[in-house]
Amino acid sequence: MSSLLIRNIRTLVQAETHRRALVKGADMAHVPHLNNAYLWIENDRIAAFGPMHECPERADEVLDATGRLVLPSWCDSHTHIVFAATREEEFVDRIRGLSYEEIAARGGGILNSARKLQAASEDELFEGAWGRLQEVIAMGTGAIEVKSGYGLTLESELKMLRVVRRLKEKSPIPIKASFLGAHAVPAEYKTRREDYISLVINEMLPRVAGEGLADYCDVFCDKGFFTPEETDLILKAGWKWGLKPKIHANELGLTGGVQVGVANQAISVDHLEYTSEVEIEALKNSETLPTLLPGCAFFLGIPFAPAREMMDAGLPVVLASDYNPGSCPSGNMPFVVSLACAKMRMLPEEAVNAATLNGARAMELEADYGSIAVGKIANVFITRPMLSLAGLPYAFGSNVVEAVVLGGKRY
Ligand code: NIG
Ligand code: FE
Repeated sequence: MSSLLIRNIRTLVQAETHRRALVKGADMAHVPHLNNAYLWIENDRIAAFGPMHECPERADEVLDATGRLVLPSWCDSHTHIVFAATREEEFVDRIRGLSYEEIAARGGGILNSARKLQAASEDELFEGAWGRLQEVIAMGTGAIEVKSGYGLTLESELKMLRVVRRLKEKSPIPIKASFLGAHAVPAEYKTRREDYISLVINEMLPRVAGEGLADYCDVFCDKGFFTPEETDLILKAGWKWGLKPKIHANELGLTGGVQVGVANQAISVDHLEYTSEVEIEALKNSETLPTLLPGCAFFLGIPFAPAREMMDAGLPVVLASDYNPGSCPSGNMPFVVSLACAKMRMLPEEAVNAATLNGARAMELEADYGSIAVGKIANVFITRPMLSLAGLPYAFGSNVVEAVVLGGKRY
């Protein structure tokens, strides 16, 4: 047995004595916490926490957190960290006035990333993704989901998912994989899109599921990408292979993506920059989680999702980064939390619930991650000195994460 003690913690944040699977609506404004606390870890799991006057005297390793907060690691439930190249030229095109959809329509965007990924080797892709994983771990991420979707051919989708499998094998944090073969229709299928959908359903899905390469099935259901009817076909096919849906919806318009996700019992519908009362009503009568990606709204200059309205309607909002080369080239979860507070009027407590426990739930990892509870895996981080939880989103753009502990070990 090895023990790690973190002592003199100003505030131990998201410390649960009663375990919750997720946090909804008005409850999101509350984060259970303990001031002047200690955290005791045995091997890779949280074994105890409490007030400093009950703190154990010795441990194999002791960290002092005077003036600092300790939080459960971020659970980033939506990323695309396997890619071959950045798309800085498109960023500049957008500054000059082109929209994300215009760039996509002329063969840029996802198709640009696909051309580059198809030409890259599995090893190159692994090296790039591994570097991004290390980068986000240093910013406090302790569980992550990674999508395919820049392959768009059978071989390249398999190549991407094999990279994710290698990441899973080597990673110090848990990884979930989503198959996103239906991310864009390749140019050669432009006049026969049903053939591409048939390739996704009849060739890609059986191989991906047969090789156990994915946990979820994703579709980019939006204007100019896949229709709700096409999405429905793909999600139903995914279910036949045991892959639950987790989809992209309502980033570019009120396109019915949320409804088709809910109708197919999606774990989550993600983006939701365009959300009306109809979408909120559909979500209210479902188990499907609304996952918001404010880094994407910030970078593309599109509306921020109506997080307040969703929470007022009692929904359990999730926050994730969407780290990808096109719409959000950043996996910085502290910045996502800052954006959620500054741009979507989420309270710091609401944003922390959305980025920890609800994020874990959006990857079905809530039994072991997403909060500080006895028995959970000890993935936590120590902040730099700050007065309160609000100090975290307040210091936007700063390095607020000072030390990371993964599986009970200083990382
Ligand atoms: O979540 N919206 C679709 N997919 C990604 C962006 C893909 C890209 O532009 O490369 C997203 O924003
Ligand atoms: Fe995405």
